[in-house]
Amino acid sequence: MEKVNEIVSQLTLEEKIKLVVGVGLPGLFGNPHSRVAGAAGETHPIPRLGIPAFVLADGPAGLRINPTREGDDNTYYTTAFPVEIMLASTWNKELLEEVGKAMGEETREYGVDVLLAPAMNIHRNPLCGRNFEYYSEDPVLSGELASAFVRGVQSQGVGACIKHFVANNQETNRMIVDTIVSERALREVYLKGFEIAVKKGKPWSVMSAYNKLNGKYCSQSEWLLKKVLRKEWGFEGFVMSDWYAGDNPVEQLKAGNDLIMPGKVYQVNTERRDEIEEIQEALKEGKLSEEVLDECVRNILKVLMNAPSFKGYKYSNKPNLDAHAKIAYKAGLEGVVLLKNENVLPLIEGTPIALFGTGQIETVKGGTGSGDTHPRYTISILEGMEERGLKLDGELVNSYKEYIKKMRETEEYKPRTDSWGTVIKPKLPENFLSEREIKKIAKKNDVAVIVISRISGEGYDRKPIKGDFYLSDDEMELIQTVSREFHEFGKKVVVLLNIGSPIEIASWRDLVDGILLVWQAGQEMGRIVADVLSGEANPSGKLPTTFPKDYHDVPSWTFPGEPRDNPLKVVYEEDIYVGYRYYDTFGVEPAYEFGYGLSYTKFEYGNLKVSLENDLLKVSYTITNVGERSGKEVSQVYIKAPKGKIDKPLQELKAFYKTKELNPGESETISVGIPIRDLASFDGNGWIVEEGEYEVRIGASSRDIRLKDMFKIEEERKFGM
Ligand code: BGC
Repeated sequence: MEKVNEIVSQLTLEEKIKLVVGVGLPGLFGNPHSRVAGAAGETHPIPRLGIPAFVLADGPAGLRINPTREGDDNTYYTTAFPVEIMLASTWNKELLEEVGKAMGEETREYGVDVLLAPAMNIHRNPLCGRNFEYYSEDPVLSGELASAFVRGVQSQGVGACIKHFVANNQETNRMIVDTIVSERALREVYLKGFEIAVKKGKPWSVMSAYNKLNGKYCSQSEWLLKKVLRKEWGFEGFVMSDWYAGDNPVEQLKAGNDLIMPGKVYQVNTERRDEIEEIQEALKEGKLSEEVLDECVRNILKVLMNAPSFKGYKYSNKPNLDAHAKIAYKAGLEGVVLLKNENVLPLIEGTPIALFGTGQIETVKGGTGSGDTHPRYTISILEGMEERGLKLDGELVNSYKEYIKKMRETEEYKPRTDSWGTVIKPKLPENFLSEREIKKIAKKNDVAVIVISRISGEGYDRKPIKGDFYLSDDEMELIQTVSREFHEFGKKVVVLLNIGSPIEIASWRDLVDGILLVWQAGQEMGRIVADVLSGEANPSGKLPTTFPKDYHDVPSWTFPGEPRDNPLKVVYEEDIYVGYRYYDTFGVEPAYEFGYGLSYTKFEYGNLKVSLENDLLKVSYTITNVGERSGKEVSQVYIKAPKGKIDKPLQELKAFYKTKELNPGESETISVGIPIRDLASFDGNGWIVEEGEYEVRIGASSRDIRLKDMFKIEEERKFGM
């Protein structure tokens, strides 16, 4: 701190202003002239005092920088990890830490100081275009996984940045929409995950969100950034704005948004303004004090003095991509969720497979926008299955290859590149094979595997229409025809879902025998899929988000706000009843519930012990693998509160645990401690735990509760902020 104060005392006013405003972004996304080409942002250097330019780069599925540079033969590829929703499906904190470490190493070795990840907004609605980049609908799962990931990243000597703070739960009009949400829903759902991550992960930085929160831009909300984040939670890092967020740089600094990104020139409606000039003027006119500016500078420097750039770290530009590919593979394997399995998976060795769906070749590795990555390779589903020696119908593969090639040459389906440099491929019709052709294929093969893919990304939300949330008519036709023809010969059908957030499944699942949710698994996608299909690996992922039966069941019916065509305001009418909190409390049956996921083996739960010692609820139970294959099991600890003054959801997740790989017959005893404070609800003033009988519910999912026990809180307890 002394060193920081010393530096601040030597800075001129001009230099201080420069330190709180980024250097700007000549390209729309990714600065080609940055020291690290393609990094999202950079700060101003002050060479006179040995302050370097700090480099900040996305993002949640891996470091996003340009893979090649003009006039340079070297390459700068990074590892494409599974998208966050898939990482969350692992429910494995150690694994998230390991992924964080790997990304942290790439961050450091490519000369970047802060990784702009993890993103951790709550899945309020399945249609948010960036849900793939976010962990969960539940704040405890989100917060715990984010903490682990942050610890991993920061163990490498670089910073993490948790984003987007807060309630950035939609992409539609994200830069202006006013999010109206009760303080209770904020505290218990939308802020909670960030609170856990700040306290347990201690991130170097927080990115304030684009949207307004109850009337004020998040980046201009002193309540959010000073009162809640710093005072109540004890955050000691710095806050940066999201790119071009807010409408007043002076208000941002005053509110505690220390760094304005990407900086310099920004646009409010059609007017271009210069942030540096505005801050200068405000200082001159006495509308901004130098103390406020000093505080922001101190917050930034205090942290970034530990960054590699400040220490003059000689980065290699050679991170260990081979080792990280293995981690990406492992994380993907654990994130696959088996949704349905009627005696079809794993496939018997040598089973002749007919692989359908254009996604086998045009496999979607991740979403678009700042969460995209540029890996050395992406193994498509087809390539993975071929590499692993699965027995595919070669003729069918060739028909797909030819079909895709032909279609991509037409004007209508020509791939185009978006402003982030991602190649966008318009969706191809999936029903190009005739019934007769499919019948022939069904005769020759023993199982059909159909790939259904979706992609979404930053800047827009998904739609509750066919081809997006619902299957398109051609996809439905493919599933119907293939199922009919294969079943006629007594053969089985498996659907692979290569998606980034929920789609509608309930209306067609009865047609097929197996459904494997393989998400968007990054560069190792095809290998992951092949190894789960063949039984080389046993899936152990569980859903971090509810798959509703139908879009009409979703509680956030106000999404994406009003007026519908150009929403300026979105009111969170469902309040705290987000995800399973809603479905469970109001008895609405989802297609697949929060926490759901099957395995190739079976687990038994037993031996529940619950005790309350001082302010700690101690819970222990045993999980035994009673099946015939080894595997891991994710167990979930829910608490059901008694009826009291405050309306409570039926149950809330308070802890979770993934076992080690258990051999058949093997058991593991799990012990978790839940501080009583974690059972509290926000009553408008503070946190309160009401008296009465509480139920501990140990679930294999939120609706498959295996063990229950009660404990009593004798007297109401109140906790401060
Ligand atoms: C996104 C952020 C990202 C930033 C820099 C913004 O559009 O919302 O998540 O970190 O761009 O690329």
